[in-house]
Amino acid sequence: MKIIILGSAAGGGYPQWNCACEICALFWAGDPRVLRRTQSSVAVSPDGQDWLLLNCSPDIREQIAQTKALQPKSAPRHSPITHVLLTNADIDHIAGLLSLRESQAFTLWASGKTHAHLAANSVFSVLQHALVPRHVLETGKSITPLGELSVTVFEVPGKVPLFQEQEAGHAVSRDGNTIGLHIDHQGHRLSYVPGCGAIDKQLLTDLAHTEVLLFDGTLWQDDEMITSGTGTKTGRRMGHVPISGPDGAMKALETLKVSQRYFVHMNNTNPVLVKGSEERQMVEAMGWRVSHDGLEIVL
Ligand code: MLT
Ligand code: MN
Ligand code: ZN
Repeated sequence: MKIIILGSAAGGGYPQWNCACEICALFWAGDPRVLRRTQSSVAVSPDGQDWLLLNCSPDIREQIAQTKALQPKSAPRHSPITHVLLTNADIDHIAGLLSLRESQAFTLWASGKTHAHLAANSVFSVLQHALVPRHVLETGKSITPLGELSVTVFEVPGKVPLFQEQEAGHAVSRDGNTIGLHIDHQGHRLSYVPGCGAIDKQLLTDLAHTEVLLFDGTLWQDDEMITSGTGTKTGRRMGHVPISGPDGAMKALETLKVSQRYFVHMNNTNPVLVKGSEERQMVEAMGWRVSHDGLEIVL
């Protein structure tokens, strides 16, 4: 199985268009320790021919331009992307669907809740149902979209997308708004959790047999948006457990027997984005890697 990190940043990307926080300022100043990063998406293939997209970011056009394997191969119209799977309805995970509207067939998979958010936003009707059938991913169930590759769905603590908060509140719960995906192929397992509001016992059980883990690395610490002057919400309030701290992701996931663990979905304020930073060194000392755009993993 081939895995490509198309976009390693959270919503807004790195650097974010309107941000001059300490970390974005490094990029604007041309500091070689930081890499430009597009928004949260991963591509997976059993054979390098046909590909699943895990989330579809507003940067998908640019991500395809950067990724040979995802480019059209036969005239007049073609795409190696045959399925798109969504882990929630956050803008950074769904807005790219609007760029895939050019009468191209693919299958769109998401939880019932995520499909409901899409259905409630009529702009997504531009993806004609006849060409882009929408199928529900059910918790605990598996699908086999491509060859021997199977996808199993597990629920993850999360909340409604930001644009729904006024109507639906912002409590973090296991209510089907956020899911994680196991991708299994020939005895290998990738697990993908780009958004996680809490790490509970069930999540540890669900991740017990994972070989490669791609996990929510949005913030280094819970109050990072506040201390950096970029926002008023904590990470947990936004539906993201921080990386560090006694109840952060590194500590909570410490006992998992995973052979490769990577953070994905990093916010632009996160100091782990800076090569050689104290925080990057701490992450690496704990056996984690900070993924980057274009990173390829073969399993
Ligand atoms: C998130 O991950 O919390 C969302 O992508 C935030 C957003 O929609 O901007
Ligand atoms: Mn996001
Ligand atoms: Zn910033």
